[in-house]
Amino acid sequence: MSVFCGDRHSAIAPAKINLTLRVLGRRADGYHDLESVVAKITLYDGIDLLAGDDPAIQIECTHSAVPTDTQNTIWRAIELLSNCVGPLPPMRVQLHKRIPLGAGLGGGSSDAASVLMLLHRRLEGRVGDSNLAHIAAEVGSDVCCFLHPHTVSMSGRGEIVRPVELPWRGWAVLVFPPFGVSTSAVYAAWQANGSVPDRDAEICLRDTYNTAEKLDEVLFNDLEGSVFTVEPRMKEAKDIVEDKTQQRFHVTGSGSTLFACLDSHEQAEQLKQRIDRLSDLKSLVTRVITSEDNK
Ligand code: C5P
Repeated sequence: MSVFCGDRHSAIAPAKINLTLRVLGRRADGYHDLESVVAKITLYDGIDLLAGDDPAIQIECTHSAVPTDTQNTIWRAIELLSNCVGPLPPMRVQLHKRIPLGAGLGGGSSDAASVLMLLHRRLEGRVGDSNLAHIAAEVGSDVCCFLHPHTVSMSGRGEIVRPVELPWRGWAVLVFPPFGVSTSAVYAAWQANGSVPDRDAEICLRDTYNTAEKLDEVLFNDLEGSVFTVEPRMKEAKDIVEDKTQQRFHVTGSGSTLFACLDSHEQAEQLKQRIDRLSDLKSLVTRVITSEDNK
């Protein structure tokens, strides 16, 4: 099968931020039903797919903490795809990791989605779109949202995804506390606290919320309190960075990354400089990817 013809196929896998995240409740399968508006940002992992010389899937990664075996989301994606379409030729995957791990930025999910889309194209339609979405959902709750290139509204346990248009076009400054947070521990803590505030996850899609200042008023994350319970240093980091910069920060997903919304590149760079000057925390200026980027 000429999936590779011996050459190299490359993809980039963007990170995400959850602008809003509502947790509706625990399901019979142990997962939680969610509603979230998820934006993609210009922080990417790089992926190269090459023809392999071993029948087993070979994964190489620039980051030593990333598993390169069956635990890797890319490995699971390829395995599930070959269960669906039949044996794939031997392949080697090189993963250039730039998205921090355990950071709520969806790096592992995005890597898996990018490999699925790359193979989907190479297999020229042999995997139907609905099979692709099904495989993505099997790999992980967040993977489906990365099958779409920009902002989506996500529901179910994450597998129901609808592309949406965000009225705000801007910049997200990320702050990386020097630790990760376990997603399953955060959901377990949410379950123990158990409140379900009735908030509208899609509120940030209304035309009114077209500036960072207005958007800051309506962004929320139902997991935030549970993130602080599981990892009290997260609350400290958020308090420090907000106090020192007088800027509002939000937790993405189950943490540990914090983000601030800014309307211009200049404002975003100025905020990063303040963070660098006033704290030990690492930060990065990114832009929110919009439908304009994919034209
Ligand atoms: O699906 P994924 O592997 O990304 O989920 C990691 C963990 O996060 C799950 O094992 C589960 O504990 C929790 N989770 C959840 N409800 C979701 C998504 C994730 O409880 N919708």
